Amino acid sequence: MGKIGLFFGSNTGNTEAVAYQMAEKFNETESGLVDVHNIGGSTPEQILGYEYIIFGIPTWNVGQLQDDWAIFLPKMEGMDFKGKKVALFGLGDQNGYGFNFLDAMGILADEVLIQGATVLGLWSAQRYQFEESLATEENGEALLGLGVDVEGQASMTDDRIEKWVKQVKEEFGV
Ligand SMILES: Cc1cc2nc3c(=O)[nH]c(=O)nc-3n(C[C@H](O)[C@H](O)[C@H](O)COP(=O)(O)O)c2cc1C
Repeated sequence: MGKIGLFFGSNTGNTEAVAYQMAEKFNETESGLVDVHNIGGSTPEQILGYEYIIFGIPTWNVGQLQDDWAIFLPKMEGMDFKGKKVALFGLGDQNGYGFNFLDAMGILADEVLIQGATVLGLWSAQRYQFEESLATEENGEALLGLGVDVEGQASMTDDRIEKWVKQVKEEFGV
């Protein structure tokens, strides 16, 4: 088992592809550092087996959780995330859904914070253009995790992933 558990949900494969790309980056420096799981087949016990956790979630249907995450979220009530370090990444389309950009990442981040997690991997909101998002911190300057937009900013994805992975490794201290 790796040190970090990465759990993703994905309807059309974009978040899945980013999840594996990230894992490859993490594992470049230490082979087997990250295990990748589909949240659709995962249990609370599996997640809590890791001290370091990464959640990947796209926003669907105008501000909603991706399907597998929508099924999983009620199971989070009562999960004890105290002492867990959690980082999130979200996929969304800022041009198509500028009033709900990355909302699902915000909903998930709030839930893990309520359950006692420390959320790391915050990311500047500056290089995105959107009207509203549940994924921003109160002051609106940072996103609660990495935002990836393969529709509107595809050419920025590789660079974002590379920088975020480096940042999260430092913040996790792994
Ligand atoms: C019907 C539909 C609704 C969407 N709603 C949102 C939304 O509210 N906010 C957002 O940021 N992106 C939204 N998106 C964009 C998806 O999050 C984006 O395409 C993402 O890459 C899909 O990831 P997946 O392939 O892992 O499911 C929507 C896309 C579709 C097709």
